[in-house]
Amino acid sequence: MSTPFDVDGKVALITGAASGIGAATAKVLAGAGAKVVCVDLDEGGAAKIADEIGGTSARCNVASRSDVEAAADLAVAAYGRLDAMCNVAGIPVDVMIADASEEQLDKIINVNLKGVFYGCQAAVRVMTPNGSGSIINVASSGIDAPARNYGLYAMTKAAVAMLTKSLAVEVGRNGIRVNAIAPGATITPFTERHLMGPDGKVNEEYYDRFVEAMKKQSPLGIVGDPEDQAYLIQYLISDAARFCTGAIWRANGGQTFSW
Ligand SMILES: NC(=O)c1ccc[n+]([C@@H]2O[C@H](COP(=O)([O-])OP(=O)(O)OC[C@H]3O[C@@H](n4cnc5c(N)ncnc54)[C@H](O)[C@@H]3O)[C@@H](O)[C@H]2O)c1
Repeated sequence: MSTPFDVDGKVALITGAASGIGAATAKVLAGAGAKVVCVDLDEGGAAKIADEIGGTSARCNVASRSDVEAAADLAVAAYGRLDAMCNVAGIPVDVMIADASEEQLDKIINVNLKGVFYGCQAAVRVMTPNGSGSIINVASSGIDAPARNYGLYAMTKAAVAMLTKSLAVEVGRNGIRVNAIAPGATITPFTERHLMGPDGKVNEEYYDRFVEAMKKQSPLGIVGDPEDQAYLIQYLISDAARFCTGAIWRANGGQTFSW
C-alpha cells in the first residue's frame, strides 16, 4: 500500500555521499526505493556506496560550479529526471575569527556556501522543466548559538539557512520546495577531528569528553547517528512534506533550547 511518505522511484542526487550523513542518506533513500546518484570529492568512497545500493556515482568537487552542473546532468542522463537534490557535502574549520587566514576563509566559503549555492542552481535548472522537486541543504545547529572556534563554520551555515529561505520564495511557483536541516552533534568522521588532543596527537579520552559534552547539551542525553538526519531528509523529499518549504529543520536532540 502506498503512502505519502514513500520516496519509491524518486531520483535523488547526494553530494558528500561517501561518508557520514551523505552516505546514510544514500542508503536510507535507496532502501526506500529511490534511485540515487552519489557524488563526492572522494570518488572511490562515492563509488563504494553506490555499488552497495545499486546507484550511480561520480567524482564532484562542490566548490566547482561545472562539477556540480555535471552531477545534475548525470542524474538526468542516468534516470531521466531529478526529484531531490541533497546538498550535504561540507567541511569543518576550528579557528578563532581573529586568527583565521584568508585561505581558511576562502576554503570554507567555497565548499560550505558556494558548494550549496551551485547545488541549488543546478537543481533549479533541471527541476524547473518538470514543475517539481525538493532541495535539501545541510546547515548546522551552529546557526543557533555562537561558540568559540566555530564562528567561521557557523557563518557559512547561517548563510546556507538564508539561501534556503530566499530560494524557497523564488522557486515555489516552479513547484520546487527548498528546505534546510540543521543537524545537532552527529557521530561521523566529521566529529572524529576531536580525537586529536590539544597537542595534535590522537587522544581517545579527549574524544570521549567531547562526546559526553555533546550528550549533555540534549535533554535526551544522546548524540545523533547519521540516520537521524537521513530520515528527516527522506521526509522532506516525500510528498508528505508537500506543504513544507523555506524552513530549517532541527534533528538535534533539543540541543538549541535546552541551555
Ligand atoms: N556530524 C555533525 O555533527 C554535523 C553537525 C552539523 C552539520 N553537519 C554537516 O553535515 C554535512 C555532512 O557532514 P558529515 O558529518 O557527514 O561529515 P563527513 O566528513 O563524514 O562527510 C562529508 C563528506 O563531504 C565530502 N566533501 C568534503 N569536501 C567536499 C567537496 N569540496 N566536494 C564534494 N564533497 C566534499 C567528504 O569527502 C565527505 O565524504 C556537512 O555539511 C556538515 O557541515 C555535520
